[in-house]
Amino acid sequence: RDDLVVLGIETSCDDTAASIVRGNGEILSQVISSQAELLSRYGGVAPKRAEEAHLQVIDQVVQQTLDSANMTGKNLSAVAVTIGPGLSLCLRVGVKKARRVAGLFNLPIIGIHHMEAHALVARLIEKDLQFPFLALLISGGHNLLILARSLGHYVQLGTTIDDAIGEAYDKTARWLGLDIGKGGGPALEELAREGDADSVKFSIPMRQHKDCNFSYAGLKTQVRMAIESRNICIDKSPIFSANSLDRRSRADIAASFQRVAVVHLEDRCERSIEWAMKIEPSIKCLVVSGGVASNQYVRNRLNHLVVKNGLRLVCPPPSLCTDNGMGCGVMVAWTGIEHFLVGRYDFPPPVNDPEDYM
Ligand code: KG4
Ligand code: ZN
Repeated sequence: RDDLVVLGIETSCDDTAASIVRGNGEILSQVISSQAELLSRYGGVAPKRAEEAHLQVIDQVVQQTLDSANMTGKNLSAVAVTIGPGLSLCLRVGVKKARRVAGLFNLPIIGIHHMEAHALVARLIEKDLQFPFLALLISGGHNLLILARSLGHYVQLGTTIDDAIGEAYDKTARWLGLDIGKGGGPALEELAREGDADSVKFSIPMRQHKDCNFSYAGLKTQVRMAIESRNICIDKSPIFSANSLDRRSRADIAASFQRVAVVHLEDRCERSIEWAMKIEPSIKCLVVSGGVASNQYVRNRLNHLVVKNGLRLVCPPPSLCTDNGMGCGVMVAWTGIEHFLVGRYDFPPPVNDPEDYM
């Protein structure tokens, strides 16, 4: 395994990331180029602009990744690249680059599912984390409960029927008028520390549904109504901000939102443990990954629940949980290693004229 060296490339959304990881899990290099500034200028991810930004930096990011590992393409064993889910224009930039590198150096190529990478990176952190295990993947676009039975064999126990939890954090932060330069989630987590989590009574989503699915759209509406009803300056215009609320009331709303958002996660995780135990009685761990998993309150609450149910919580560090963290390419490279080791890879078409691939 020590001889195995895989380059991972990730361009599924707004950051261009690459990394080189050794088969034993040693991270040799990791590089990320962020489009955060571009996004704040345009107020969101515009696929065409994001594609252009990826195109501008992809060669440089991969070269820097090789340089800082003191390697050339000749030293690599394989190239792994995210093939979905994500913005197709953006994914294509990464896939083309991966095919170019693989084609030039005659390397196998491994297509990676972004959410699988979020789950499997936990096995890089905890070398003794064995299949089967449960995984809760919580990000801006996804809310998934997965029973990972073996490599490539995943049973979806639950998903969101509308919004993901990260989306609810982001909107709440915006409506509360927070500075979301570092992202809505972290800003809200910080403000919530000052608030009373029991002060605003939001109802817990989907209590009457005895399944493992999620819903955050209703909670978002409740939060919006709470802000509107407290803000005496509010008019009926679609654009509103709660800047006129004093900090204490905003903190109370933030804390109350966060409490209920996480109780919903706890409800679903507890039921999924019950379900998973019936299918795979030997599970020992719940992996929590994705951007929202970097939230300390979320981690603490879920840790408590998991331990109470006789399992262990495995949560990768924030840099390996989030798409804009340094380790975003690491999770792709590592998932590539996992697949390579069981012989799951392809070869790109041969390069006749290297210029074609440049
Ligand atoms: O996995 P990720 O980096 O990207 C995808 O959406 O795939 O997740 C981003 C999401 C955003 O909604 C962001 O606000 C949220 O994760 N997030 C947080 C925290 N850090 C990031 N949410 C709550 N608390 C945090 N500390
Ligand atoms: Zn992600």
